[in-house]
Amino acid sequence: MKMNTITRSLLGVSMLALFATTAQAAEKVTLKLAHNLERSHVVHQAFEQMAKEVKQLSDGKMTIRIYPSSQMGSARETMELLQNGALDMTKGSASDLESFDNTYAIYNLPYLFKDQKHFDNVVFGNVGKEIMESSKDKGFFALSAYIAGTRSFYAKKPITKPEDLKGLKIRVQASPTTLRMVELMGGSPTPISFGEVYTAMQQGVVDGAENNVPSWVQTRHIEIAKVYSEDEHASIPDFLVISTKTWSKLTPEQQQILSKAAKDSEAWQQKAWANVEAETRAQATAMGGTFVTVDKAPFRAAVQPLYDDFKKDPKQAALLAKFEQAAQ
Ligand code: GCU
Repeated sequence: MKMNTITRSLLGVSMLALFATTAQAAEKVTLKLAHNLERSHVVHQAFEQMAKEVKQLSDGKMTIRIYPSSQMGSARETMELLQNGALDMTKGSASDLESFDNTYAIYNLPYLFKDQKHFDNVVFGNVGKEIMESSKDKGFFALSAYIAGTRSFYAKKPITKPEDLKGLKIRVQASPTTLRMVELMGGSPTPISFGEVYTAMQQGVVDGAENNVPSWVQTRHIEIAKVYSEDEHASIPDFLVISTKTWSKLTPEQQQILSKAAKDSEAWQQKAWANVEAETRAQATAMGGTFVTVDKAPFRAAVQPLYDDFKKDPKQAALLAKFEQAAQ
């Protein structure tokens, strides 16, 4: 009888321990984040900051495991993995996100922002937030946004007027808006995933591409396409995207930790971006690259039909009006 009581109480203790362990295990969470940028990229570094902060704030109970350099596939493929529940988070440029939620198309309109302040007001303000949350019913939304500079064309020769694009195959992201932009300017757009552009350029599959200076240099595209023509046609932000399903499985406390760390990484990246841009410009010159000044007016004029069509959709027109208000 006595033995029985001891056994029972021992069993009780171990059951408690088991419950405690199970409860702890349930609190522990590992989130997978895969993207197509190199470790040297400032957005990857912002994600590393975020992962560190998440670990700290959660006393080691939350881990973000990052898979950079397209290890889990292209931007499109990681978005598909995320929607299928095989991945928790990814980085999406607004260009990549356009095909998953058309609300992001607006960011791909050329010559959209008046200046950096206008960009900041939109992307980090209320309209930006509205866009980041717009896709929840499509299985994802954005937790934070990152500056990705301005995009210009680069090739073996200068592109100073739309006619220079005639006959040139230009690599673009999988964005219908960018595709149309290059067509309207007179070039032949060729969608290729970011990680495959170097080889495509090397093999002559494309004659040029368009991107910000850090990407032109860090991907070493500059080795093949040495002339960067600053028509500055677009400023397209990057986003940290999370699956709605993953988000709903987190406790309110875990959600709060992740949101805070994501927002802090956003602020960190904003400060880091200006340095990276200046550093890579200097690096570009050292690597034999040249910068060409461009009169933007003919490029701007060529893409006007994009705006005319965009405004035909009342929802898009209303969003554009909000963007215009944010310029004041
Ligand atoms: C930029 C942007 C990336 C994007 C890349 C591209 O570098 O920051 O998010 O993947 O352009 O052209 O694909």
